[in-house]
Amino acid sequence: MPGGVNGKTILLIVGGGIAAFKALELVRELRRAGARVLPVLTENGARFVTPLSLSALAGDKVRTSLWDLEDEAAMGHIQLSRAADLIVVCPATADLMARAAAGQANDLATTLLLATDTPVLMVPAMNVRMWLHPATQRNLATLRGDGVTVMTPDEGEMACGEFGPGRLPDVPAIMAAIAAQFGDKPLTGRHALVTAGPTFEPIDPVRFIGNHSSGKQSFAIAGALAAAGARVTLVAGPVHLPTPAGVIRIDVMTALQMQAACEAALPADIAVMVAAVADWRAEAAAQKLKKDGSAPPPLALTENPDILAGIGHHARRPTLVVGFAAETNDMLAHAAAKRVKKGADWIVANNVSDGVFGSDANHVHLVTASGVEDWGAQPKADIATTLAARIAAQFSGPT
Ligand code: CTP
Repeated sequence: MPGGVNGKTILLIVGGGIAAFKALELVRELRRAGARVLPVLTENGARFVTPLSLSALAGDKVRTSLWDLEDEAAMGHIQLSRAADLIVVCPATADLMARAAAGQANDLATTLLLATDTPVLMVPAMNVRMWLHPATQRNLATLRGDGVTVMTPDEGEMACGEFGPGRLPDVPAIMAAIAAQFGDKPLTGRHALVTAGPTFEPIDPVRFIGNHSSGKQSFAIAGALAAAGARVTLVAGPVHLPTPAGVIRIDVMTALQMQAACEAALPADIAVMVAAVADWRAEAAAQKLKKDGSAPPPLALTENPDILAGIGHHARRPTLVVGFAAETNDMLAHAAAKRVKKGADWIVANNVSDGVFGSDANHVHLVTASGVEDWGAQPKADIATTLAARIAAQFSGPT
């Protein structure tokens, strides 16, 4: 998908925050994708990355000050913002967002933002309380109202030790958002159904059978498909993750609810069934089960429907059906068998014996009718963008 960036000029404003070092990685990826990068470093940004490292990676001079006389004589800052096809602010700090929302022009970065009608993409990163503060949320709404695209920060453990939304999104997700700014949306007009997370099967009003699925991989896939232009319906079991931009989310608890929500979401062009559906459900007791000192209560289990197999053999089967396979042994053989049995076109196989649940990385193989591809160990966000690009390639041509 980053193909849309090729030949474009990106003015990159690097704000001051611990995430600023990731801007260096972004510069590298942008240049690899064929973009020209004009870097601007705020005064605070320069406390986290050096102008030298930024200019070396960008292959261009770093602008830091409005009072750079040489540039100012040539109206440098006006020309600078107009030379760009897109302005990216990464990381966008709470302070930078506040000043941009207020229309201030008290440094080079904010002057550039005010003096331009070039599209702007902000990639926020800040402490969770700063992000959730009503002032920041107000500024966010103002910026979005002004036409600025502001990415939703990731949720997770932060450099400051707190947990919650505020982390800089992964570089592949930023690259996908940048590509989307250039209209690189090959899945426009397509509807994708994605299942996510675990299901919880109640055994009484307070207990349930569940599993460790975090939903991270499926949410990343839903976001990548939406960034590629698809209309995405995300049927999510109980997980605490922010809904990716542009995704319609339907929250469910049990396998039967997930199945009904998938059925209701048809027709779809694409189905990516990532959920770790509980294989069995119990007859839930109406009241809390009590210990009585003797044998534990028997649990009568019933097998849940296989949602992927139902979609794979459906009368209104989506054109492309993708399943996942979580295996601890004989991974590729099991995945190939599941592909045929469940009526899927592709199976993304992963080995879950080594701590993949909840982690940000995974090592997957893509199993198709024509063979197996080893995608190596990658961040889940990269797997999502690669999979979305592969799916897009299947749907090239008009809708
Ligand atoms: N799946 C589903 N509904 C189920 C069980 C699984 O839709 N009731 C889907 C998953 O979303 C995934 C694929 O089937 O895309 C494979 O899931 P996995 O847990 O690996 O396999 P199972 O079918 O549960 O087989 P087993 O546990 O025996 O390996």
